[in-house]
Amino acid sequence: MTAHSTLTPATASKSEALTGTVRVPGDKSISHRSFMFGGLAAGETRITGLLEGEDVLRTGDAMKAMGAKIEKSGDEWIIQGTGNGALLEPQGPLDFGNAGTGSRLTMGLVGTYDMTTTFIGDASLQSRPMARVLNPLREMGVQVIDAAPGDRMPLTLRGPKRANPISYRVPMASAQVKSAVLLAALNTPGITTVIEPVMTRDHTEKMLQGFGANLEVETDKDGVRHIRLEGEGKLTGQIIAVPGDPSSAAFPLVAALIVPGSDILIENVLMNPTRTGIIDTLLEMGASIEILNRRDAGGEEVADLRVRHSELKGVTVPPARAPFMIDEYPILAIAAALADGETIMDGLEELRVKESDRLAAVARGLEANGIDCTEGESSLTVRGRPDGKGLGGGTVATHLDHRIAMSFLVLGLAVEKDVTVDDRAIINTSFPEFMDMMRALGAKID
Ligand code: S3P
Repeated sequence: MTAHSTLTPATASKSEALTGTVRVPGDKSISHRSFMFGGLAAGETRITGLLEGEDVLRTGDAMKAMGAKIEKSGDEWIIQGTGNGALLEPQGPLDFGNAGTGSRLTMGLVGTYDMTTTFIGDASLQSRPMARVLNPLREMGVQVIDAAPGDRMPLTLRGPKRANPISYRVPMASAQVKSAVLLAALNTPGITTVIEPVMTRDHTEKMLQGFGANLEVETDKDGVRHIRLEGEGKLTGQIIAVPGDPSSAAFPLVAALIVPGSDILIENVLMNPTRTGIIDTLLEMGASIEILNRRDAGGEEVADLRVRHSELKGVTVPPARAPFMIDEYPILAIAAALADGETIMDGLEELRVKESDRLAAVARGLEANGIDCTEGESSLTVRGRPDGKGLGGGTVATHLDHRIAMSFLVLGLAVEKDVTVDDRAIINTSFPEFMDMMRALGAKID
């Protein structure tokens, strides 16, 4: 990144009690998939509650470039899809900006088409490994005709005349890799099997079934999931209400836990068990989180969360929980910084290949603000200081990572000295309303 001169910083200051009722934007994973599957399915898909963050809008643009019609009418997004197997070759490169999910899933979606597709993105996305998706696609007959060293973006795919169905065991805990293979399977004759030894978020499976795909999941006696999808079937447009993103809810949630006197309500949060590891962990730390009004919302459970300031204590987070809270470690580290004692987080190797090397970015940010921590190869230990005295005063490098920016702004609300992050614009990728929402709760952020 050479664009430091163009970054606009933001600063958070010690705040009075946070109070009020909020709704966070729609779930990012479900929003990407809503645009993709709606754009692919025959007929009309109508979406409410969509996250209108930059990442998701890029996915919408990509689907438009491949023949889907997408428009907004009032609060609703209305899509006329192409029909499965009928995407068009895009006329130019598909620009995914900062979005790993959008780009990796789309590589799967279009890879098995007999056409040429080029993927480009920002400096963060160009640094992220794509071999994890390209390798199974190669087995299906997809050629990578151009790529930056190490199978990175920008890259160009050329699909086969007819793709080859495979059985693929996902070598790392990654919903993106699982999903890319399943989406490639949609345009592949026969049955493609994805074997998932460690379960990850299951939105692709659930939503594809909802759109009418012939997909079944079997969990064997060892807990390994076998996901079978029969390709070249019909997908039909659906009506989707996207629930609030638990990964976004985690920011006001932790803010309320660590700012004394706080009492807030976060409405309509997705409670899919593959996404709620952060709530389990915070409850173990002694958090006051009441899960209210659990209800079904179009096949997913949602609830309202009442969160009150709590005296947190350090815990050891079970490594097996990592896939269910993978995006929440940065904000958990902030909760840990204000907890009594030591919080040990392990099994974090995937954090090294997120929008930034999140393990290093969090450790450097904590250190810059006087917080005692130890960074291991795939672990982070944070020694907290509940009164926040003497903490803060640092400037944090966000490295084009929205979750680093939001996490450290939350830290600044509870510690003695101001906390500055070097870039506020990156927050728009997933949570454009973040600053306004936090201010409405009483947060001092500018
Ligand atoms: C996502 C999967 C996760 C997560 C990302 C969204 C998805 O990535 O970190 O924010 O929507 O499938 P990995 O598959 O790389 O773990």
